[in-house]
Amino acid sequence: MIISVTPVTPNKDDSPEHLPQHLAIIMDGNGRWAKARGQARVQGHRRGVDAARRATTLCGEAGIRYLTLFAFSSENWRRPDEEVHFLTQLLALSLEKELGRLHENGVKLNIIGDPSSFGRKLAKTIDNALEKTSNNTTLTLTIALNYGARQELVSAVRRLAESCVANELSPRAISESDLEGALNTHGLPDPDLLVRTGGEVRLSNFLLWQLAYTELFFSDVLWPDFNEALFWDAIGAYQGRQRRFGQIGEQVDSQFGRR
Ligand code: FPP
Repeated sequence: MIISVTPVTPNKDDSPEHLPQHLAIIMDGNGRWAKARGQARVQGHRRGVDAARRATTLCGEAGIRYLTLFAFSSENWRRPDEEVHFLTQLLALSLEKELGRLHENGVKLNIIGDPSSFGRKLAKTIDNALEKTSNNTTLTLTIALNYGARQELVSAVRRLAESCVANELSPRAISESDLEGALNTHGLPDPDLLVRTGGEVRLSNFLLWQLAYTELFFSDVLWPDFNEALFWDAIGAYQGRQRRFGQIGEQVDSQFGRR
């Protein structure tokens, strides 16, 4: 099932008006991919890392400036301990292994969520990767780790309330940009396109504030099978949408170009 997609030939021209500036992905289906092959779930996660590498490369080649991947949700702690442990190790190892290549390709790493609960090894790997890639500008790769949008919003509200108590901010003056500034994603543009693989049609507590006007693309393809064809299907669907941001059609002069 692919929801709400008018098949269009994607325009691969990398001019900004043809491409989403920010692509966010809910990578779903690793476990089912492995099960369908009679393999352990962790094998699906291993192949999921390969798919994340493909997505990063495709974004870099296409000229997309921001890629955000939902790697571990606040709710994923409910998985068996061994799977959580495996995922933590896999993420640390993958980051260590990919860091050189990411850096050479101008990728700036960014983390949202609270990875502190994953232990010292992953925390050290993350700090090192953040520092090494901090001046890169080609593609900002944000990995959501132990991330939940409701938790992010509660923390942001708490931060604003503290500023009010300290008389640095008046409750009446609180604006959308104050709230945005208190989110994990401050400094990032909102996603233009969200892709979810794995057949589920929901947001699962991902970037609830930031997705307010984002175009959504859902696919049955399981994440380890994510490939160039699916990437361009999603971009083509995005290019076929008219984004109105609440206005009526005629006011918006930004129909995406097609080949
Ligand atoms: C989704 O499948 C799996 C995850 C969200 C866990 C972690 C993701 C990866 C290992 C991909 C690589 C990511 C990075 C950033 C290197 P699932 O286990 O929910 O699958 P299921 O719905 O079929 O059970």
